[in-house]
Amino acid sequence: MDCSDAILETPAAAYELLLKSAIAIPLSHYLAAALFCFIVVLYNFLEFHFLQDLLTGFRGAPIFLTYNTSSEIYHGVVSKCRTLHGRYLATPWLSNPHIQTSFLNFFGRPPVFTYRRQMFHASDGGTFALDWLLHSDVSGVAVQNDNVLAKDDATPIVIIIPGLTSDSASPYMKHLVFGTAKNGWNVVVSNHRGLGGVSITTDCFYNAGWTEDVREVINHLHKEYYASPLFVVGTSIGANILVKYLGEDGENVPIAGAAAVCSPWDLLIGSRFISRSLIQKLYDRALTIGLQGYAQLHETRYTRLANWDGIIKSRSVRDFDTHATCLVGKYETVDTFYRRCSSSAFIGQVSVPLLCISALDDPVCTTEAIPWDECRGNKNVVLATSLHGGHLAFFEGITGSRLWWVRAVNEFLGVLLSSPYMHKQNKRKVLGLILLLCKLRSIKAPIST
Ligand SMILES: *[C@@H]1O[C@H](CO)[C@@H](O)[C@H](O)[C@H]1NC(C)=O
Repeated sequence: MDCSDAILETPAAAYELLLKSAIAIPLSHYLAAALFCFIVVLYNFLEFHFLQDLLTGFRGAPIFLTYNTSSEIYHGVVSKCRTLHGRYLATPWLSNPHIQTSFLNFFGRPPVFTYRRQMFHASDGGTFALDWLLHSDVSGVAVQNDNVLAKDDATPIVIIIPGLTSDSASPYMKHLVFGTAKNGWNVVVSNHRGLGGVSITTDCFYNAGWTEDVREVINHLHKEYYASPLFVVGTSIGANILVKYLGEDGENVPIAGAAAVCSPWDLLIGSRFISRSLIQKLYDRALTIGLQGYAQLHETRYTRLANWDGIIKSRSVRDFDTHATCLVGKYETVDTFYRRCSSSAFIGQVSVPLLCISALDDPVCTTEAIPWDECRGNKNVVLATSLHGGHLAFFEGITGSRLWWVRAVNEFLGVLLSSPYMHKQNKRKVLGLILLLCKLRSIKAPIST
């Protein structure tokens, strides 16, 4: 009675009592509470989603599709894709975008197979490798021929454009290549210049907006394998290159359909994003180390063409682009390079069926850059976004040996192939262009003689 009266009477007495009780609690209890708070903060800071997955009974989250309501590509193709109308659930022990993305890069559990290599010589003297995996290589029907592919083979061909500093040996590439070949297609990875163990043979390097090599490879394959429909899949920076190419050439591409996975979309927004927070800066550093590794392979040329000292001292992708990409590619400033090469500005002109896939928790290519309205504005484009997945990871299944996006892309290409919606190159426009060139030449001819 005395005690409670005292509390009611003076606040000072109440605080004293509180302090006494606080002191009476053992230190270990405080430590346990602090540890619990720390774990909660860390769980949220690192974007774990195991509890959410558990509470939703491991059903995963639905895929969100963005498209123009009158899009034939949606109604005729994507609406028939079960993967895109299902849900994505991350592998439970990888239920975190950073862990997924790191696991993919350090382990990745790629399927084991060997490519058939073909060297490609570009018109400017540049050289790079085309790495093939044929359907017959993985189907068990071993038809060993020295020629990479018979010219009149009508098996559809999927051309793959890898991400920044990735090549055909990267784990996610192997998942995509193997999955696609198993599905009945012939697959070819168009490695970037200076990667895949091939030396640079001219002063021209690839960059995020370099579409010339893709264009040449596609035109070459179209001429060489005239009977095969051609499809293209770009990943990360490769997706940016792909969409930019499709936008630049519009109707005039010999491509039946395409998929852009985890594209950065807007390089300027992307550059601001990865230099903002602590975690993103780690990705920035990792990408820079990759770029510096690439530069080391071609040191003599970079020393002559760019600022070698700056390259070595680069702490971010932006630094690297300042000291290397802008000087080699002759861009006035880094921002000019980013603005001109961002694929979001080209999506409106894409004239082939295009499936875009992005994860909303992608730690490298931010959702801030996704061109939602532009995707809705173009009837050829369907954008699929998932809540989770990280950057190019999307591991699924309890063993984490499959990537969801590989399955989604393969289903989309398969449905597209058996639909009437594959794109056909506008031959009349090509003819018009040839006629125009002939005219220009005939006008020029009398002047030059
Ligand atoms: C859908 O496409 C039509 C015609 O191309 C266009 O006028 C309309 O604005 C598009 N819808 C959206 C929501 O962008």
